[in-house]
Amino acid sequence: MRKKSFITGITGQDGAYLSHLLLSKGYEVHGLMRRTSQFNTARLQELCGNLEFSDGGSLEDRLFLHYGDSTDSLNITTLIEEIQPDEIYNLAAQSHVKVSFEMPVYTSDVDALGTLRILEAVRQAKLTGKTHVYQASTSELFGKVQETPQTETTPFHPRSPYGVAKLFAYWMTVNYRESYGMFASNGILFNHESPFRGETFVTRKITLAAARIMNGLQDRLELGNLDARRDWGHARDFVEAMWRILQHDEPGDFIIATGEQHSVREFVTLAFEHCGVSIRWEGSGLNEVGIARVPVLKHDGIPNGFQPGKFDEFPTEERVVVAVNPDFFRPAEVETLLGNAAKAQEVLGWRAETTFPQLVSEMMSYDLKKIY
Ligand code: NAP
Ligand code: GDD
Repeated sequence: MRKKSFITGITGQDGAYLSHLLLSKGYEVHGLMRRTSQFNTARLQELCGNLEFSDGGSLEDRLFLHYGDSTDSLNITTLIEEIQPDEIYNLAAQSHVKVSFEMPVYTSDVDALGTLRILEAVRQAKLTGKTHVYQASTSELFGKVQETPQTETTPFHPRSPYGVAKLFAYWMTVNYRESYGMFASNGILFNHESPFRGETFVTRKITLAAARIMNGLQDRLELGNLDARRDWGHARDFVEAMWRILQHDEPGDFIIATGEQHSVREFVTLAFEHCGVSIRWEGSGLNEVGIARVPVLKHDGIPNGFQPGKFDEFPTEERVVVAVNPDFFRPAEVETLLGNAAKAQEVLGWRAETTFPQLVSEMMSYDLKKIY
């Protein structure tokens, strides 16, 4: 019998990487998918579409997508009763911190109550003794950090409606574990990125913009807080941790992080360095700019075909390529995050494999190809 998993948020970055991992391990994967006016399964198709199975079976036999929404209790309860999953990965969320300030009520409905709906559905379906539940908790819980690095015992101080909603979800997960003996665990994941990262998160915004600038398609990149520091890992490594958390003998809460932090400015510098371009930073605060010699801006919308190593083949100019735009500031900022994943290493044997330069390089290579 194949193990059955149910992934909410299957169409997102982590959902796609986790599906690939579970399908490769022989799982039957069920996913919750929102009805949208256009297909939004591109990441799943790209990561899982070419999977081959040793028993000759096909993807259609083991990947099942169900329409639904985390805000719809009846839908969630019915699906969990029907699927009877061995493992649930609750990844669905309005996951953008800045957007959560603009949509605090909706964000709380999905990210806080959505988690409660899952936990309660497992209880109602009398699956507490069978189903292991993973909750996608976040380093945003630490917000205004009380100590550095952050561990499983660091006090929380969320700084956004997103962080506060995820705090409710964190404690509900602990509460169902303590009240009903449910195998419910929190993975407190620090930022993790990939070529499949949403385009409005800062890393992907940077790599896409750098690829466009190098192809003559974009004048400059406008960012908010260049000083923000994050512990950035690779989503591929982090979904492995999610799986290990649910295979452990006991439920619990685990920090998943690389243990290394970098600023947004450093990420930009490295992204351009991948293209052979060095950025000169001048000014400070709102007037800070990044200046570099890059291919001249084209006006026909056709990429110039830039690839690393081909820099000398294009007419270039020195200009401002990065500027600060206060529209991207947040009402309350999380300035710095740095995780200590010693517990995950000791108990789960997990550690991050991908280095920061490897992550930036993989994202840049992907986006330079994606331009076409
Ligand atoms: P993501 O790319 O934004 O994906 C979010 C997923 O949730 C998408 O599949 C989205 O569907 C779905 N979703 C949103 N609202 C929904 C709703 N009302 N009902 C059902 N599904 C809904 O996020 P991610 O980076 O993969 O992150 C996965 C989870 O980990 C999230 O809970 C996030 O908060 C958490 N997390 C992420 C990080 C990180 O650095 N990536 C770190 C810590 C925790 P659509 O495709 O239809 O939009
Ligand atoms: N998005 C964005 N856009 N962020 C910017 C920009 C910009 O133009 N300029 C600077 N930043 C800064 C943000 O202010 C923040 O301090 C940092 O870059 C990272 O922003 P995001 O990439 O949007 O990620 P996040 O850290 O706010 O949230 C992500 O990581 C959390 C884990 O710590 C999301 O994936 C959350 O869902 C996740 O929980």
